[in-house]
Amino acid sequence: MSGGPELRILDHLDEVAREAAEFVLCAAEESVARSGGCRVALSGGTTPKALFTALITSPGTSKFPWSRVRFFFGDERCVAPTHPESNFGMADAALLRPLKIEAQRVFRMRGEDEQPERAAQSYEDLLRKEFGVGVPDIPRFDLLLLGLGDDAHMASLFPNTSALDERRRLVVTNQAPKGVAQRLTITVPVINHARTILFLVTGSGKAPAVRTVLEEPDAAPARYPARLVQPIDGRVIWFLDRAAAATLQRLTQADSSHEE
Ligand code: 6PG
Repeated sequence: MSGGPELRILDHLDEVAREAAEFVLCAAEESVARSGGCRVALSGGTTPKALFTALITSPGTSKFPWSRVRFFFGDERCVAPTHPESNFGMADAALLRPLKIEAQRVFRMRGEDEQPERAAQSYEDLLRKEFGVGVPDIPRFDLLLLGLGDDAHMASLFPNTSALDERRRLVVTNQAPKGVAQRLTITVPVINHARTILFLVTGSGKAPAVRTVLEEPDAAPARYPARLVQPIDGRVIWFLDRAAAATLQRLTQADSSHEE
């Protein structure tokens, strides 16, 4: 059984990134101790990028057994890996190359494929192979990183898209309302099977989405996709800065009880 979402609220983006980096190193170490390896799904977005930067400068990094970690992606924009909007490109520059991760430990989605459907299917096949799970089983990531859009999307699962309803496929194509329109994304069952899910969210623009997702149980998941994150047997930890957490009632209450 999983408990409810856990919250870590820090003052600023750099502290969120630093704390989340320490958490990632601990979780990955535990996973290596438990199973001999760690399978991580990376995310695009500004806060995940700050985490990558914090990870490469963390004091724990130099001794960390990175050769035991395999890196996957939760979503990708349909562009070439060298394109400035590529999630792989960002992770490669900010994390994978600085850590000198061997190419055979990095599994990227083929955003450059002229047929996105084919790229989605081939990533699904790759996940089945790398995790050793056949149909209808779902791979279980040890660690899954997510950002949150101001419209409450995560990965490339946007409000009111049919991808939100997918329960059988592991990876599908989707359309984004902003930025690079064509996307590849893991589906809700893959997210909910992960052992540990980290949301990394900063900035006041995210505050309404954070409030709705965490404190409005009646909010429609089709309109607020992150409400669909309900791990089957795992943890969800939200790393937030004060601006993103500003309108959370539990925080306002805690602050006012502190002042009394
Ligand atoms: C992407 C993402 C997406 C992102 C959020 C938050 O490819 O864009 O995977 O889900 O994490 O949109 O992004 P920001 O942190 O940049 O707002």
